[in-house]
Amino acid sequence: MSELADHRAPDGLEIRPVTGLPEFTDESDVAAEVLAAAPWLESGDVLVVTSKIISKAEGRMVDAPADPEERDALRRKLVEAESVRVLARKNRTLITESRLGLVQAAAGIDGSNVRSDQLALLPEDPDGSAARLRAAIAERTGLEVAVIITDTMGRAWRTGQTDVAIGSAGIAVTHPYDGGTDDYGNPLVVTDIAVADELAAAADLVKGKLAAVPVAVVRGFAPVDNGSTAADLIRPAEEDLFRLGTEEAIALGRRQAIRTRRSVRAFDDRPVDPDDMRTALGEALTAPAPHHTHPVRFVWVRSVERRRALLDAMNAEWRADLESDAKTPESIEKRLRRGRILYDAPELVIPFLVPDGVHEYPDERRNAAEHTMFTVAAGGAVASLLIALSVRGIGSCWVGSTIFAAPTVRRVLELDSSWEPLGAVAIGHPLEAAPLRDAAPTDEWVVEL
Ligand SMILES: Cc1cc2nc3c(=O)[nH]c(=O)nc-3n(C[C@H](O)[C@H](O)[C@H](O)COP(=O)(O)O)c2cc1C
Repeated sequence: MSELADHRAPDGLEIRPVTGLPEFTDESDVAAEVLAAAPWLESGDVLVVTSKIISKAEGRMVDAPADPEERDALRRKLVEAESVRVLARKNRTLITESRLGLVQAAAGIDGSNVRSDQLALLPEDPDGSAARLRAAIAERTGLEVAVIITDTMGRAWRTGQTDVAIGSAGIAVTHPYDGGTDDYGNPLVVTDIAVADELAAAADLVKGKLAAVPVAVVRGFAPVDNGSTAADLIRPAEEDLFRLGTEEAIALGRRQAIRTRRSVRAFDDRPVDPDDMRTALGEALTAPAPHHTHPVRFVWVRSVERRRALLDAMNAEWRADLESDAKTPESIEKRLRRGRILYDAPELVIPFLVPDGVHEYPDERRNAAEHTMFTVAAGGAVASLLIALSVRGIGSCWVGSTIFAAPTVRRVLELDSSWEPLGAVAIGHPLEAAPLRDAAPTDEWVVEL
């Protein structure tokens, strides 16, 4: 277990406000002002400093117009400049990741506790600011203090804001309990207490937002310096389960849905959940169709015997076709082998075009057009099925073979002569994961008139 795990403040903490500080400007020497206002500072203290005064001292204030609308427009521009991405947006609230990696509202840009003609940007390098302040105090007084620079943030899942550490120096920012056990013998596998955030929040209890007390000192914690800084409190992207706001994640998933599909011809042994099958089939049946018609039926061939009988009969017919084409025996076997996918796939669905709601016309031209209309509508439903499956991580391949053996298919499956098979869909979990595919180029295949 790490030696930090047991590090607490056994004798309790004292949290003192540093009062009497002046208004800070870009001329201010923060270390000098703090030392003047807190001559009682001791080694081992944790100096907790609101980032706002660092921003002021480091010239991070931006002049803002008095007009509220113009001020708002400037704020939006600054948020954009300070952010690397937007995670979530709700009404006027923008949750962004700043260049520092901090996820918070409006990139931490703030108009509170600053003159009404100014906006405050966060310090450019809060860990660096903390290290400089700590060094300046050590240089002038010989005192070894830890420094935490704070900002106020909202939390996902919880109302209200708390102060957190956005910069630090001279303190282990987390105290991990990995490998330890609690008093009841439970392993503390993922417990890693963010003590710098806890100290930031505790100090805010005496600093306050309105009382103009931007600095506090926490005594009794006896920080251990392990070289970590507040930047270490930022969760690495690959470990972040919540990279996006819910609405943004849903929107992204929707945009990417179609690009999840590709023809999958190799499946693993995992069975496909029948509920997933039914849901995907139900969704596919919402595909557009001519008014009041239902041009498609999906036959989900669940009986192993029925599937074998169907594929054996189709194969015999296909073999006869190929022989009459005078193909070589090798070429015939090669082609038939390609049909194995329908035997091997965990599930098999055969889509059919059915004349449910079809209009009958007195002339052949319109009847042919009606048939085309039903065919494209049924095809749309099949494509929807493939996508409904792929967004659930289920692979599929639509093969055409039943189209060439329609009477045989109807005979084996005992279906009405008006039902026209539109291929077959082999379904299963992909043997290999595949990345999102690229969209097709539109320059050649989209004709813009
Ligand atoms: C009506 C139709 C019939 C198809 N027949 C076969 C087939 O017999 N065998 C096969 O492996 N793939 C078949 N495919 C799948 C295509 O080969 C596949 O869609 C194409 O190669 C593009 O790859 P993608 O689906 O990954 O985008 C068929 C697709 C359609 C729409």
